[in-house]
Amino acid sequence: MAYSDKVMDHFSNPRNMGEIENPSGVGTVGNAQCGDIMRVYFDISDDGIIRDVKFKTFGCAAAVATSSMATELVKGKTIAEALEVTNKAVCEALDGLPPVKVHCSLLAEEAIHAALWDYAEKNGIVIDGLVKPKSDIHEDEEEEEEY
Ligand code: FES
Repeated sequence: MAYSDKVMDHFSNPRNMGEIENPSGVGTVGNAQCGDIMRVYFDISDDGIIRDVKFKTFGCAAAVATSSMATELVKGKTIAEALEVTNKAVCEALDGLPPVKVHCSLLAEEAIHAALWDYAEKNGIVIDGLVKPKSDIHEDEEEEEEY
């Protein structure tokens, strides 16, 4: 299995890794098959711009690389623009993923959606086109785990 140079770059040197204190929205999703987990934090301005974004991923190389690329793609964008950052867009930006690893990129898209969902709930707003991600594991999460 060969990863593109971009995947290797984002895996070895992930952008936006970390967390945001008092985030505007935070979402955690998991992949039931492999058990990998991804959490995304947003700092969203009053006019709906994603000022900052951070992630923590407990997962495979492809999951780390897609989290890194996905956060790069949504940073500085509006919420509507962030919704356009699909797993396909993330894969393309990484020059592709091996077919068996494409599912890993779904985690990044879902984590973004889960964090936006949390933001919408906190603010009592509805975000057009946003549905609650199926793999949102927010409800079950107890204590912060150290990844
Ligand atoms: Fe689980 Fe990649 S193998 S996200």
